[in-house]
Formats: sequence, C-alpha cells, structure tokens
Amino acid sequence: MQGNKGSKLAINGGTPVAPDGLKGKWPIFDEAEEKLLLETLRSGSWCCMGRGDSMVAKAERKFAEYIGTKHAMCVPTGTDALTLAFNAIGIEPGDEVIVPAVTFIASASAVVLATGVPVFVDVDPETYQILPEAIEAAITPRTKAIEPVHYGGYPADMDRVNEIAKKHNLYVIEDACEAHGSEWRGKKAGSLGDMGCFSFQMGKPITCGEGGGITYDDDELALSCYTFARLGRKPGGEKYKHYIPAGNFRMSEFPGAVLLAQLDRIEEQTEARHQNGEYLASELGKMEGISALKRDPRITKRGYYFYFLRYDAAGWNDVPRKRFAEVLGAEGIGAGTAHNDPLYLNPAFLNIKKSLLHGNEIDYSKVCCPEAERIYRTEVLAMGKDFLMYRENVDKVLEAIQKIRDNIDEL
Ligand SMILES: Cc1ncc(COP(=O)(O)O)c(C=O)c1O
Repeated sequence: MQGNKGSKLAINGGTPVAPDGLKGKWPIFDEAEEKLLLETLRSGSWCCMGRGDSMVAKAERKFAEYIGTKHAMCVPTGTDALTLAFNAIGIEPGDEVIVPAVTFIASASAVVLATGVPVFVDVDPETYQILPEAIEAAITPRTKAIEPVHYGGYPADMDRVNEIAKKHNLYVIEDACEAHGSEWRGKKAGSLGDMGCFSFQMGKPITCGEGGGITYDDDELALSCYTFARLGRKPGGEKYKHYIPAGNFRMSEFPGAVLLAQLDRIEEQTEARHQNGEYLASELGKMEGISALKRDPRITKRGYYFYFLRYDAAGWNDVPRKRFAEVLGAEGIGAGTAHNDPLYLNPAFLNIKKSLLHGNEIDYSKVCCPEAERIYRTEVLAMGKDFLMYRENVDKVLEAIQKIRDNIDEL
C-alpha cells in the first residue's frame, strides 16, 4: 500500500481518505419489489391468512429452502420470532435461558417476554461469541435452553453449543437475527439448533422494513409455534377454536411481498460481503494494533451485520479507542461500538421487577463478564455491513488505518 507519510490527518485539517464517506446504498431494491408490492395492493388480499399462495406463504417456503429447514414462519419482528421460539419450547415461568452478555437487548428481553429468566455469560475474546465453558458453568436444574447469538453475523461455536445441549438435554434457540447467510460447516445459521430466529428489520441483510422469521425442522415445535403465533389456533383447525390464550403474530402481505423479492438478492450480496470481509481480515492481519475476529475454518460463509475491528490501544501509543474512532471518522470511515454495554448493565435488567423473575433469585447487579466489559469499553470498533459490498470501500478503510499509522505522532 502507498505510504502516507507527510499527509496530514483529516482531523488536523488534511484531506480525508473518503471525503464523502464510504459508498453503500441500503436498502437495495428495484422493479422486482415494486411489482410484487403493486400486485399485492391491486389484489385487495392484504392479509396472508389461510392462503398458500399468499406473498407471506411464498416467502416462508423460499426462506425455509434457503436456510435448509423444513419449516419457516414469518412474523412481524425478530423480537417476536425469539419470543415465539421460547414459547414454543414450553418455557415455564422462571426457567433459565443462557444468553451471551454481548448482544442486542432483544436476545434477552424475548426470554423475559416468554416468562423465562436470562442468565448472562461471557464471550470468547477472539470471536465475541458465547463461550462454551461459560455455558457449562451456568447450567442449573432450571436451565431450559441455550441461546447462541451469531453476533454481527459471526457463527457461534455450534459444535460445542450442541454438544453441551445434548449432554444436558437443553434446547438450542439460535438468535440468527444478524446472521442471514452465515454458515457453519456448510450449514446455514438458523438450521443448526432446534429453532432459528431472524430479523428482517431495515438494517438487516434481508429486509422488508420490519419483519422476523423462525426456522425449524421439528413438526411438534412447528405445531406449538403455530399455536402461539396464531391466537391459539391449530393448523387447519376451526377458525374460532382456540386452544391457548395467545397473541397474533401474522406478517402483513406488504412486507411479505418485499421480503419475497429481497430473498432473490441475499445469495449474491452475502457472497460479495464474504469475499470482501475475507480480504479485509487478511490485510488487517498484516497490521499492528488492529485486527479482525479469529478466522475459523469451520465458518464456511460469513454473513455480516457488523464488521468488528479489534482495537488494541497498546499498538497505537495508548491512544484511547474513542480518539482513534474520531480520527478514523474524520477520514470518512465511521465506526461505532455496537451495543455499548453488556446487557446486564442495562436498566432493563439492573432494575428488573421481581415479579418478572417468577421467584428466580438471580441478581443482575452481581453479574460480571470481564471479556464482555473489556470488549465494549476498550476494544470493539463496529462498522455496519453496507460498506462490505464494495472492494473499493475496503481499500479505503485500509488506507485510512495506514494513514493514521503513518501519522501516529499527530494523534
Ligand atoms: C441480535 C439481535 N437479536 C434480536 C433482534 C431483534 O430484531 P427486531 O429488531 O426485528 O425485533 C435484533 C435486531 O435488531 C438483533 O440484532
């Protein structure tokens, strides 16, 4: 790469590497989405109920085929998908679910919404994913499930997660809300546990604005999930016969139409991000003070929601991460800190109402996951997935980092 010695950092008045920021339009759509949306509008059938040829039903079949599961159900949000999955496995009030401390709030709040209790555990510092040893240490007689979150799209160690689940007879609910297209040993995230949960919210790699999906193979779980998602009805049963008091989680035909079209794009987009992510990781491997997450050959495809950079202040004259991010930002390369804090430090858990714990004695103010805290406080720099579609963006990221290195005395 060309050296930048002598060029002034943008934060000090120099010319930024990317004056207009990085290239990246999101969401990506064209006439395909427009056509299906108009078709839906003109059909007058705006609800998917009971129709195998609805947009939602078609999207469900296509998504199940893509993920490689027997069933898929579309729901209004990823949070709903998770809540329904926990309902479907029969969580009883106070049952525990083991959740990584490093994730988005919905991974844990969905457990609470399903009357369970999240038990937070630490993550692997090299992958940012749930740490198998921490799972084992957290198992109690009340544990019902493990929830690996493929955080940022990086697959959790599903060999170990499934091995532990099998040994202790626990369910595995994958939070794949950020991991569309990611693969572990050639199998897609969302097909690796008992149930997979996805978000199709606006920023996600497949989107219809707001939406969620649940994927699963087991027919009993399918029945249970359907009943919880469809006001207590049974598939093919009488319309006004309800077997449990339950919510209504149908997706409308409009997001269904957009989703159906978006599903044609995911393979190509995932491949572009995967290739560019591999290239970025290998180039970062040649640099000091900043690195990619560990590259694991069992990950056969990386889907991305975030690209995580591991910042090591020691490699940058002890310049704090915040300052480095400002300097990088001035060059036109935006990077944040993902979700900022381990989940247990959120008021949602620190101040949780006792009644929501259903007699479980857990005290979130006593939880400490040192790696999770270190990662969020000093290490992670998270870039949203969109830049990864284009190799030129990756080159600009590398150029900006190199420029900072060449001008380290200016920091
Ligand atoms: C890891 C994770 N889990 C769950 C969710 C919840 O999805 P939604 O926003 O569609 O409810 C998200 C999305 O933001 C997420 O990133």
